[in-house]
Amino acid sequence: MKFLGTLISLFLILSVSFGQIPNNFESGFFLTNETTDANLFFLFYPAQTQSNNLLIFLSGGPGCSSELAAFFENGPYFVNPNLTLYSNPYSWNTVANVLYIDSPVGTGFSYPLVMLWSTHTSQYGSLGLYAYTHSLIDYEQYIETQGLYESCKAAIKSGDYNMTSTICNQIMSVIQEYAGDFNPYDVTKTCPPSEPLCYDFTPVSNFLNQASVKQQLGVSSSSEWNLCNTTPYNEIIHDWFNSPIGYIPTLLENYKVLVYSGINGWICNFIGSEQWMGQLDWTYSSQYNNAPRHIVYIDQQISGYYQSFDNLAFFSINGAGHMAPHDQPATTLEMVKMFLNGTI
Ligand SMILES: *[C@@H]1O[C@H](CO)[C@@H](O)[C@H](O)[C@H]1NC(C)=O
Ligand SMILES: *[C@@H]1O[C@H](CO)[C@@H](O)[C@H](O)[C@H]1NC(C)=O
Ligand SMILES: *[C@@H]1O[C@H](CO)[C@@H](O)[C@H](O)[C@H]1NC(C)=O
Repeated sequence: MKFLGTLISLFLILSVSFGQIPNNFESGFFLTNETTDANLFFLFYPAQTQSNNLLIFLSGGPGCSSELAAFFENGPYFVNPNLTLYSNPYSWNTVANVLYIDSPVGTGFSYPLVMLWSTHTSQYGSLGLYAYTHSLIDYEQYIETQGLYESCKAAIKSGDYNMTSTICNQIMSVIQEYAGDFNPYDVTKTCPPSEPLCYDFTPVSNFLNQASVKQQLGVSSSSEWNLCNTTPYNEIIHDWFNSPIGYIPTLLENYKVLVYSGINGWICNFIGSEQWMGQLDWTYSSQYNNAPRHIVYIDQQISGYYQSFDNLAFFSINGAGHMAPHDQPATTLEMVKMFLNGTI
């Protein structure tokens, strides 16, 4: 029976044809509000081996689709330029059931294009330090960014969103001006001016917008998939400076939380993650902050580092940027395994 299952799935993988996702997935919509007919699109890949673990993946942005992660970072199939699919042996569904949700409404295939809520952890304080310590800017420029950060903090306190946005975003624009067209998601790379998001996502977008794929996913033929939608982004933008950090201690009382960062990412960089995690006011703050750092070797190579205590863990990934599973698939899958089996 097990053998038959293997044979069937092998057949499905070999029979990938143009414009089709192999049939071992579920997709559909969660109706979240009947009055507004608000629907969140989901794509579910069952675990390839028996597993009771469920991972839910929500891409950020705000307003970027989680199918980006499914077809570019950590799902079982990635898209070739000619729009055929190929298997990703490091898919996270090799060890867990994985549910991708387009959130909030207006993102990816979720509809309608209206708004809800969201929060974002701003990490303006670490942008200059990261840029200086990675040689993107010089010391004098770093001091300038620190001055801007002091004004940014004062502006956040004032509650005036427009002023805060103008002042705080200057930190980013100043660094980007001094450091050139570096890729903010991976400072080891240059951002091609022809790619607004620095990567070529057109195969994913062209694949998902095929009539055959939309039909297979059960979405309307008239819906258009966009990598990132500006409507939810603009609706949420006022929340940009409201930190969700206060909710995390409650989360930690009930769930294990793993935060990960690719070391080469500048936006949402590891320094900022370590800073906000160190400031969390929770039961085991001091134990977590004093916990030893562990080195993770894969094939005798240093692949990353982690620190953990009780329900909180932080993992930094070597040789990876913001989309760490895309850059270091083996390390990130190992990280997920260690998280699920309780090692971290
Ligand atoms: C559904 O949306 C309506 C209109 O925005 C809102 O008043 C109502 O509270 C929402 N219901 C739920 C359960 O969120
Ligand atoms: C599509 O591209 C892949 C990867 O380059 C290649 O292996 C495959 O043969 C191509 N298929 C078709 C139908 O052109
Ligand atoms: C903030 O800026 C927007 C767009 O420029 C403008 O419409 C809005 O009135 C401004 N709000 C305040 C409180 O100044």
